[in-house]
Amino acid sequence: MKTLNLAILAGDGVGSEIMSVSLDVLHFLKKAGLIDLNLQSGLVGGVSIRDCGAPITQQTIEMVKKADAVLFGAVGDYSFDHLPQASRPEVAILSLRKELNLFANLRPIFIFNELIENSTIKSEVIKEVDLMIVRELTGDIYFGQPRGFKTEEGVRYGYNTMIYSEPEIERIAKVAFELALKRGRKVTSIDKANVLEAMQFWRDTVTNISKSYDSVQLNHLYVDNAAMQLVCNPRQFDVMLTGNIFGDILSDQASMITGSIGLLPSASLSDSQFGLYEPIHGSAPDIAGKNLANPIAMLMSLSMMFKYSFNLDDLGYLIEKAIRKTLNKKIGTIDICKKGWKVCGTKEIGVEIIKDLESLC
Ligand code: IPM
Ligand code: MN
Repeated sequence: MKTLNLAILAGDGVGSEIMSVSLDVLHFLKKAGLIDLNLQSGLVGGVSIRDCGAPITQQTIEMVKKADAVLFGAVGDYSFDHLPQASRPEVAILSLRKELNLFANLRPIFIFNELIENSTIKSEVIKEVDLMIVRELTGDIYFGQPRGFKTEEGVRYGYNTMIYSEPEIERIAKVAFELALKRGRKVTSIDKANVLEAMQFWRDTVTNISKSYDSVQLNHLYVDNAAMQLVCNPRQFDVMLTGNIFGDILSDQASMITGSIGLLPSASLSDSQFGLYEPIHGSAPDIAGKNLANPIAMLMSLSMMFKYSFNLDDLGYLIEKAIRKTLNKKIGTIDICKKGWKVCGTKEIGVEIIKDLESLC
């Protein structure tokens, strides 16, 4: 039996509520004799600023480095909006990505058939959508230097730098092509090569890498066009390869294909099996502490963890199956409930999913 050494970072807002459901699932799997657990928790984001004076401490980073994988809730808290960029809650996740070299962010966009009518997009457009956004996560304008504020001749400026090195593009492109080989053998690379040098370089480098993947079809799309294509014909995509900022924006947009951002997970991977798993929805302060948050995105992140960090694909699949079984009974949190469904809270849906997990074991 595998022992999972996990770092648990619940963070801000709804983070602790959705993490608590994931921990219940992990403890259930342990009780069922399927895994062994070694859990260490730490503070990140606004809660860490309050308790330790910084969005993440060196001690937490060291703890995370000793783990096999990280479960991450969310960071973000409006009450720290007045702080300089470098001291805000978001720094926690940005420094973890950088320090742990988590350059490859996988954001799968898929449909739960039970929820297809929840999307604001017509069912016939989105049925059978199954696309994987591969977002570069440690470069681009997020980390480019120089950055900052300045005043020149009495005029104030804020500025950032979009920059990518060839090795940075090559390694993320390889992740996308390797994934495409196991899926629909299509990569769509997103850029803004018509305007930005950094993105012309992106396109050229991706094209070079594609020469080693004869059986994968490569297309290029400008990001503005991609945003349009995502809502008018999302089925055309298999693997969508993006830089950091375009992937951030397009993945939120793509989440609406599924009807709720509360459903979508992500995996952030380095070149080892170490990974950080987090829902893409963020801290959602407006609903925090009210037992309203949908725990499914976090649970699907847990499912990705089993697959990508532990080669326990079966357990990952089991969690997904239990979620589908629960949804089949027309029970859900408020963000996904339609007419005739039973609305329940974060905790209650967690209990239902674990019951279904039990029935599948
Ligand atoms: C995400 C988030 C983060 C990002 C924030 C919280 C820094 O929006 O993971 O998509 O911009 O990458
Ligand atoms: Mn985002």
